[in-house]
Amino acid sequence: MDKLPLVLVSHALPEGWLASLEGRCRTMVGPANATALAAELAAHLPEAEGLFSLLTIPVDAALLAAAPRLRVVSNMAVGYDNVDVAACTRRGIPVGNTPGVLTDATADLAFALLLAAARRLPEASADARAGRWTTWEPAGWLGADLTDATLGIVGMGKIGYAVARRGHAFGLRIVYTDPGTHDAAEREFGATRVPFDALLSTSDFVSLHCPLTAATRGLIDEAALRRMKPSAILVNTARGPVVDQEALYHALSEGWIAAAALDVTTPEPLPAGHPLYDLPNCLIAPHIGSATHGTRRRMAELACANLLAGLSGERLPHCVNPAVYG
Ligand code: DGY
Repeated sequence: MDKLPLVLVSHALPEGWLASLEGRCRTMVGPANATALAAELAAHLPEAEGLFSLLTIPVDAALLAAAPRLRVVSNMAVGYDNVDVAACTRRGIPVGNTPGVLTDATADLAFALLLAAARRLPEASADARAGRWTTWEPAGWLGADLTDATLGIVGMGKIGYAVARRGHAFGLRIVYTDPGTHDAAEREFGATRVPFDALLSTSDFVSLHCPLTAATRGLIDEAALRRMKPSAILVNTARGPVVDQEALYHALSEGWIAAAALDVTTPEPLPAGHPLYDLPNCLIAPHIGSATHGTRRRMAELACANLLAGLSGERLPHCVNPAVYG
């Protein structure tokens, strides 16, 4: 049994999610609520051959230096901005992620946020609970119409496309920015690829679906927010740092835009008492885009498949740095 490779699993996961690892490797599992690699796991980095990480664990140069035998990093997320991929590639370590299985759940959440912000659900619900619902008010809690409005998708990847599909079904016009043309979205939803500035100035809803990279960090800055319509709603289910949060606070409190709905923030968790929590036009969710029973389980299973492939020296089913294979 001792001959099996050691895998560090950064967080405890529900029963059965790691079943495929049984008999294939030895695992050391961290606490479910770990915010960093637990010290008792970090102490075993020198022997570890595999790492199963969540997006809250920085897989950086220091971690890699402490793990000379590491042969695979498997991140249970589609995003991998927590991983120093270039450093892994230099070491020849393949990095796995979990695309596809979370597309619909994340698109559903993006659309739920869009609808909730459009119809001011958090404010309306809070008012009802607080006794401020005194009659049927003709002009009370008025929100935004979706029909014939324009949805701007920033990043027409799998999730952006799935959100566009939902938007089209609700009667929204779709515009998008992306490095390439997305033929299926153009054919099926009449989506139009437009320059970023045009997307900002014409969209009633702007939904972010780009990865966090050097190019997208701070993409939604003061200039971008000032270009948006005063009635516009910003939805972010991508990564917090894509938005300049200080500029967003000013945009929301000074009426440059109407509302924002954020599933991701900087930092995460957004600390209690953060000024954004005080804004009635800012809906904040605790990064739950992929949080459905089936999706999270499928993400874990895919991360296990990546991990096992890496331990056996096979190509990972989903590898973000295929350069390691020459
Ligand atoms: C991801 O996978 O990158 C999401 O942010 C969490 O599911």
